[in-house]
Amino acid sequence: MNRKYRKAIIAGNWKMNMTASEVRPYIEELRSLMPRTKTCETVLCVPSLLLPALLKATKESRIAAGGEDVSSHESGAYTGEVSAAMLSDLGVKYCIVGHSERRQYHQESDALVNAKIRQLVAHSINPIICVGETLEQREAGLTMDRIAYEVKSALYGMEDLRLRHCVIAYEPIWAIGTGRTATAEQAEEVCCGIRTLIRSMFGARQARALSILYGGSMNAENAEELLAQPDVDGGLIGGASLKPAEFSKILKATDQGQ
Ligand code: 13P
Repeated sequence: MNRKYRKAIIAGNWKMNMTASEVRPYIEELRSLMPRTKTCETVLCVPSLLLPALLKATKESRIAAGGEDVSSHESGAYTGEVSAAMLSDLGVKYCIVGHSERRQYHQESDALVNAKIRQLVAHSINPIICVGETLEQREAGLTMDRIAYEVKSALYGMEDLRLRHCVIAYEPIWAIGTGRTATAEQAEEVCCGIRTLIRSMFGARQARALSILYGGSMNAENAEELLAQPDVDGGLIGGASLKPAEFSKILKATDQGQ
């Protein structure tokens, strides 16, 4: 982490867990356990249906609300979709986009991910753009090729000024929900590679200011070592974000990784 130039961000991704009635007790417990001083930007990304409860429970707190997905369209006849305008109107600040679970189970293409990111930045919501390689790609030595392709496609057509809204999350697919975390060296190598790529696309200043997160079986035990890496600016946390006690320990670990 390099706090001189960029924000440390710890974001939970609840995925399809929890219900609206569980939100308030969770937030009350988390707030009682959170570090007293602001150590990092704390974000909770939850299903759209839970966002009103989350926003209500986190009012006047240091916790920002995030969505888990957004429509690629502005508005119109898209049954079941949630638009960036709807998220923005509620007060949502972040939204995950391009998560590997959506790419895998909902056949989301790189072009679709790009269209969703455009919607989010147009409505001043910060996209948390997920990229990551499969185990086969890693073993074939194709990790950086895959990551570079996903980053370039996601940011295709992005104006320099809008990049400052974006966050990139490196989530190796083989580490998600498996208990198998990337080593700190592996996480740093890819996060540093992403920053180098951003430098070549947008220049040194933009690259230096971009927050790049690691996600994939991050927990209270391994967070400190991962967050101590110079190019790992935070975490995107699935399973370990479901328990306030565990999540708050990760928030505390950001103190150490400065
Ligand atoms: P886990 O932390 O459960 O491995 O999930 C990571 C993830 O997918 C966050 O978006």
